[in-house]
Amino acid sequence: MKLVAGNSNRALAEAIAAYLAIPLTKAVVRRFADMEIFVEIQENVRGQDAFVVQSTSFPTNDHLMELLIIIDALRRASAKRITAVVPYFGYARQDRKPGPRTPISAKLVANLITHAGADRVMTMDLHAGQIQGFFDIPTDNLYSAPVMVRDIKERFELSNLMVVSPDVGGVVRARALAKRIDAPLAIVDKRRERPGESEVMNVIGDVKGRRCILVDDIVDSGGTLVNAADALLARGASEVHAYITHGVLSGGAVARITASKLKELVITDSIQPTEAVRVARNIRVLSVATLMGEAIARTAHEESVSSLFD
Ligand code: R5P
Repeated sequence: MKLVAGNSNRALAEAIAAYLAIPLTKAVVRRFADMEIFVEIQENVRGQDAFVVQSTSFPTNDHLMELLIIIDALRRASAKRITAVVPYFGYARQDRKPGPRTPISAKLVANLITHAGADRVMTMDLHAGQIQGFFDIPTDNLYSAPVMVRDIKERFELSNLMVVSPDVGGVVRARALAKRIDAPLAIVDKRRERPGESEVMNVIGDVKGRRCILVDDIVDSGGTLVNAADALLARGASEVHAYITHGVLSGGAVARITASKLKELVITDSIQPTEAVRVARNIRVLSVATLMGEAIARTAHEESVSSLFD
């Protein structure tokens, strides 16, 4: 078995390697002067079960291209099976045509990964579960829920909690987490007038006096999150926390969140946290290394992965 890391999330790859008690495969992933990517796998991988750890996070296109080129290098080096381990799958939000003459970029990215030579894909908390169907190769969509639930149980008195979906599209995800901690569910009915902006319209459910936990897959600009937190506090919530898998945190998101009334945002290391994230007063990072490492081990040994989430 070989574990190869791209440059997107070296820390997570190293933590996964430590869990699996194997070294990262020696490989060079660097740039030529014109920024073309060059990859050299510096160990024999012939006949090996190879796992490439690479989130397609910012800079998305560079990290995606790195992933494709690493897969190509492994394929041409005769690896027996190649699994693209993509903890954060960028472009996932472009999973349908929002209007005429627009692309379905999530499908295009799935095609690129497949055609580069991946035999399997492992990812986490896909923006929409049906993106799995964009791949015609086996695709495991892991859930960060066990990691989140363990943390919630350690930190909160469960009886006064209310799980909240920050928009109607996230209800299924939030309900699944609410069920695991046996908490009621509320929904923020969000209307987004323009791309990149969000506007809270209504809260469905009585959040008065409750400690609310917002659950989402992605925090990007932070607009959805901060607006939802304001709406919940305006309706009498005692405090608002958030558990969100992928901390995309573009532009001024970290500043927006630290300046907000949000008590705490908990994200995972599916995307490597920046220095600003690490020092932010109300952002905490949970690691999914053990979960991903275990899923990789089970894949390598042809064991059940779904039973990790029972
Ligand atoms: C949208 O459907 C997603 O689940 C997130 O709610 C969204 O991507 C968050 O974006 P932002 O932080 O920019 O409001």
